[in-house]
Amino acid sequence: MLHWLNQIPVEEHRKSRLSMLNKEGRMKVLGIVCSPRLHGNTEILVQASLAKAQEEGAEIELVTLAGKTISPCDGCYSCRETGKCHIKDDMQDIYTKLLEADGIIFGSPVYFWSVSAQAKALIDRTYVFYAERRLRNKAVGIVVNTGRDGCTSALAAFSNFSTGQKMIVVGRAIGFGGREKGTVKKDERGMAEAEELGETMVQYLQSHKIPS
Ligand SMILES: Cc1cc2nc3c(=O)[nH]c(=O)nc-3n(C[C@H](O)[C@H](O)[C@H](O)COP(=O)(O)O)c2cc1C
Repeated sequence: MLHWLNQIPVEEHRKSRLSMLNKEGRMKVLGIVCSPRLHGNTEILVQASLAKAQEEGAEIELVTLAGKTISPCDGCYSCRETGKCHIKDDMQDIYTKLLEADGIIFGSPVYFWSVSAQAKALIDRTYVFYAERRLRNKAVGIVVNTGRDGCTSALAAFSNFSTGQKMIVVGRAIGFGGREKGTVKKDERGMAEAEELGETMVQYLQSHKIPS
């Protein structure tokens, strides 16, 4: 079987992409926890995805928005001219991390059938990358923790953002952890989904050369 791009056998094509990936050492997976609570259920789920990704060979980093200041986008559009966001807050560091990551796992608690305000602020502030599609082709994993309901619309918020930024959603995990910190650990299926997401992310990154 030939690969449609350059007419080389598919297996050879796959191997060449793998070796390029390994040579550059490019497999950085960033987890962003958009819960305002430190060490809560969303963080536990994202941590489980990252731990699995690390076990599979990725370099990992977890960032939590708890205690950070991420102001909302003010719609000034100056970023379209300058390529920079004029709001000087904790998002500036996160911009660097987003650009450096090959894969990003976004996690949020479900708040009123959607993502947290922290998650929405982060989503909107990535508008700075939109004009030049600077997040294009990065792999995305989506993690949500819910008490009972609303997870599909929270997943949709992250998914629509990701595809809008031309990123590739490789999977998702839903935890039914509820309010009490740590209870998501009892949700075996949710925890297993989170781990599998980390594994899927690495498998995706290993089999795709992400254009820089
Ligand atoms: C403002 C607010 C809105 C919430 N809305 C919902 C909701 O729509 N559906 C639901 O099942 N749980 C809802 N919850 C419960 C949260 O989903 C739950 O506390 C959260 O997932 C815990 O995650 P954390 O430990 O990472 O903070 C809400 C909680 C808060 C504080």
